Amino acid sequence: MKLSPSLLSADFCCLADEALSVEGLVDRFHWDVMDGHFVPNLTFGPPVVNALRKKLHIPFDIHLMIDHPEDYAPQFATHPDDVIIFHIETQPDPSAMFRVIAAQGARCGITLKPGTSLKTIEPYIDEVSMVLVMSVEPGFGGQQFIPEALARVRELRAVIGTRDIEIFIDGGINAATIGDVARAGADIAIAGSAIFGKPDRAAAIRTLREACS
Ligand code: DX5
Ligand code: ZN
Repeated sequence: MKLSPSLLSADFCCLADEALSVEGLVDRFHWDVMDGHFVPNLTFGPPVVNALRKKLHIPFDIHLMIDHPEDYAPQFATHPDDVIIFHIETQPDPSAMFRVIAAQGARCGITLKPGTSLKTIEPYIDEVSMVLVMSVEPGFGGQQFIPEALARVRELRAVIGTRDIEIFIDGGINAATIGDVARAGADIAIAGSAIFGKPDRAAAIRTLREACS
């Protein structure tokens, strides 16, 4: 199970130091971009993420919880291993978004809210390199894991079959939930408060890794 810490739970006054404190211990970084419209919260956007892109050397997940992601995705200075993830709820016809991300040379990811049917993304599964399963309502860190997400991961794993598409899981991941999501078939766990909410990040990461081994 790979780990992608969500910087949403880091101390924003020293984001670079926060990220650097765990960079050697994790696989990716997760950026929760929110617009106050698609979700009722505001975070950061391209200027912040791009500044940090220059300082960090592992892949980014850019989780766009925003309306009109096609207008903003090109503003992220992505590397080829970075993934741009958009919500299907914002794009009844996601073809524009696929074109934008392909033109950028980044990996393409898709996600959906807990209440949105998996069927809405199935027609597009061959267009993406990863699917992010939300295990909380998008908008805030530190929420409780929604247990129904486990069945979703299992169902998605069956839909994906032998295709090379990774499953990310996002929200409420901690030592009590990460083992179940690993067994259900998720490849990458995103964790915010379970890493940046702890005083000893190395110990927190060790605890998460042990809980799913
Ligand atoms: C929620 C975000 C998550 C969040 C996870 O809208 O997409 O990435 O940061 O935070 P924790 O791990 O604290 O639930
Ligand atoms: Zn996220």
